Amino acid sequence: MDSPSRFPYQFIDRVIISEADIRTRVKELGEQITRDYQNSEKILLLGLLRGSVVFLTDLMREVRRPITMDFMSISSYNKSESSGFVRIDSDHKTNIRGWDVILIDDIVDSGYTIRTVRKLLLDREPHSLKVCALLDKPERHKVDISIDYLGFSIPDYFVVGYGLDYDEKGRNLPYIASIDLSKGEG
Ligand code: IMP
Ligand code: MG
Repeated sequence: MDSPSRFPYQFIDRVIISEADIRTRVKELGEQITRDYQNSEKILLLGLLRGSVVFLTDLMREVRRPITMDFMSISSYNKSESSGFVRIDSDHKTNIRGWDVILIDDIVDSGYTIRTVRKLLLDREPHSLKVCALLDKPERHKVDISIDYLGFSIPDYFVVGYGLDYDEKGRNLPYIASIDLSKGEG
C-alpha cells in the first residue's frame, strides 16, 4: 500500500480497499453475473451517475455476455442528511421493458436511493431487476433493501476513490480510502 505521504489529498486518512483487492472482487462479480445471465441476450447495466462509472466500466469487461449500458443521474433533495427524497436529473435512454436490468451504484448508505430507483424501474416492466453495489455501509441503512451483487461491506466511514468522491474530489484514485476532514484540504 502507498504511504500516506504519497496521497494526493491531505484529507485522505488510509486505504481501506487496495487496487488489487478491488480488481479481484470485480472479476468475481463479473463471473457471477456471467453465470447467472447465461441465457439472457438482453442484459442492461444501468449505472447511477457519477459514482458508479469506474466500477461499471471495469465490471462490464468481466462479464462474458453481450452487455448494453445506460445511465441515470439522481440527486437527493437534501444534501447533508439523506432525506429519503430523490430527484431524477437525467433519465436512462433505453426502453427497459423486457430487459434484464442490473442497477449499479457505487455505495449504499441509507438505502433510499436504491429503494426509490428500484421502485421506479419496476414500474417500467423490465424482465428482471437486480441490484449491484461496489460498497455497502450496513450500519447506515434506514430502509430494508437487498443487494444482489455486492463488492464489499464497510464500516461507517466516508470513503473516496474508484469513482466515489468527496465534493467531487478523489474519484480517480484507484483504491478506496477513508477520509478525515480534520487533516484539512489538500
Ligand atoms: P443513500 O441513498 O443514502 O443510500 O445514498 C447513496 C449515495 O450517497 C451514494 O450513491 C453516494 O453518491 C453517496 N455516498 C454515501 N456514502 C458515501 C461515501 O462514503 N463516499 C462517497 N459517497 C457516498
Ligand atoms: Mg451516488
